[in-house]
Amino acid sequence: MNSDFSFVVSRRRFLQVASAAAAAAMQPSSLRAAPVEDRRIAVAPGQASLTGGGGQTAVWAYDGTVPGPTLRLRQHEPVRITVENGLDEDTTVHWHGIRLPNAMDGVPGLTQPPIKPGQSFVYEFTPPDAGTFWYHPHADSLVQLGRGLAGALIVEEREPVSVDRELLWLLQDWRLTKDGQIAPGFGNMMDAAMSGRVGNVVTINGGPPADQKVRVGERVRLRLANASLARIIALRFEGHRPIVVAIDGQPCDPHEPDGGRLVLAPAMRIDIVLDMQGDPSKRYAVTDDFYDSLAYSLANLVYDTGPPLRPHPLDAPLRLPANPLPAPDLAEAERQEIVLQGGMMGGGKLAGVGGMMGMGMPGMNGEAAWAINGVSMTGDGHAGMAPQFTLKRGTTCHLTMRNQTAWWHPMHIHGFSMLVLSRNGSPVPHRQWQDTVLLAPKDMIECAFVADNPGDWMLHCHVADHQMAGLMTVFRVT
Ligand code: C2O
Ligand code: CU
Ligand code: CU
Repeated sequence: MNSDFSFVVSRRRFLQVASAAAAAAMQPSSLRAAPVEDRRIAVAPGQASLTGGGGQTAVWAYDGTVPGPTLRLRQHEPVRITVENGLDEDTTVHWHGIRLPNAMDGVPGLTQPPIKPGQSFVYEFTPPDAGTFWYHPHADSLVQLGRGLAGALIVEEREPVSVDRELLWLLQDWRLTKDGQIAPGFGNMMDAAMSGRVGNVVTINGGPPADQKVRVGERVRLRLANASLARIIALRFEGHRPIVVAIDGQPCDPHEPDGGRLVLAPAMRIDIVLDMQGDPSKRYAVTDDFYDSLAYSLANLVYDTGPPLRPHPLDAPLRLPANPLPAPDLAEAERQEIVLQGGMMGGGKLAGVGGMMGMGMPGMNGEAAWAINGVSMTGDGHAGMAPQFTLKRGTTCHLTMRNQTAWWHPMHIHGFSMLVLSRNGSPVPHRQWQDTVLLAPKDMIECAFVADNPGDWMLHCHVADHQMAGLMTVFRVT
């Protein structure tokens, strides 16, 4: 019986392969599909050594590691990634910042059915842009991201960039109990209606920050990604002058950041170039001073004692090759506005939000603490979410975002990258394209993008508690 069955299967397979080969042979070579890179990622509970010293923390992991494996893809080359769900709850994977077909975007209910426990889903896309991206679940997002599910996704430039070395720091923030386990209480009211679940342990690439060894004279490209639930990070490199060359994966005009400070809100990435011009065997602190009076030293650059790699900084251009982003047509743009409302105000009161639905205990069981234009969409995405606005494919959208709340919000758009035009009325320089734009309390930001990618797309705050509690919306491109 068995051998008959396998004969049938293999014969059918043989026929499929044979006919595919025949079809390929009839096509001119330029039409033949490029070979697809095949990858698998298993999602499952695991253990991680987040704090060093031999202690283990129970986590959820991609391929058993926190963060998940760094996926290195090539620009314009197709990839197929099979995700196997070994959790006992639904999951999906969202390829954050990649401009891909809507069906591959990983939003449960909205773009795909959730991946049930024991099942898998095949993601297929061709990254159009080179840069620093990341991947994470979009189901039970607060808990799944908070338990460690995140990984870097790097799309390599067609031609290598002239640096001596490339480094990646994927930053994660954890709320751990005294015995080093992930603290319970995800989605409580205090977190949901205020700053979100800010933790007490920051890791770099899944471990305690360690010394970063560097060499005098070398030029390093450092890819920074903030995969935290809620912690905003502002890095300073003592004794060094970082040059920002890309934001959210998209190249910008190379520039020094304001005040030498790199602000990375949750989900944001910044690529910097560092010329290591310090003194041999000296240590230079890298500090995070985002929260007033809570500055701490995150890591150190530690120079080796060897001879300099070169006497002067490398004399090579810093500008990265441009990605094929469509240029917004501002004269013909369609204007849309998103107003962020809700959250805790002074005196411990929850802001009243006109038309807000589902008010109750904020943050509990997906109830609302926030709203966009008077509507609270809670949770992770589900079927039947009515779009806030609809754009005809190809039109430029001029999007204004107003933060009427007392809190910071990194607003993230799926499927697109937006050119940031102005902040509180002042033009934003250096041609910054971003998929995640940080709004300070009361900020007003104007952006533009060409709606060239059809589908229903999410637009939400990337503080996971805020998204779950209503700071989320959907728009449609037809
Ligand atoms: Cu990084 Cu909607 O996600
Ligand atoms: Cu995204
Ligand atoms: Cu927010």
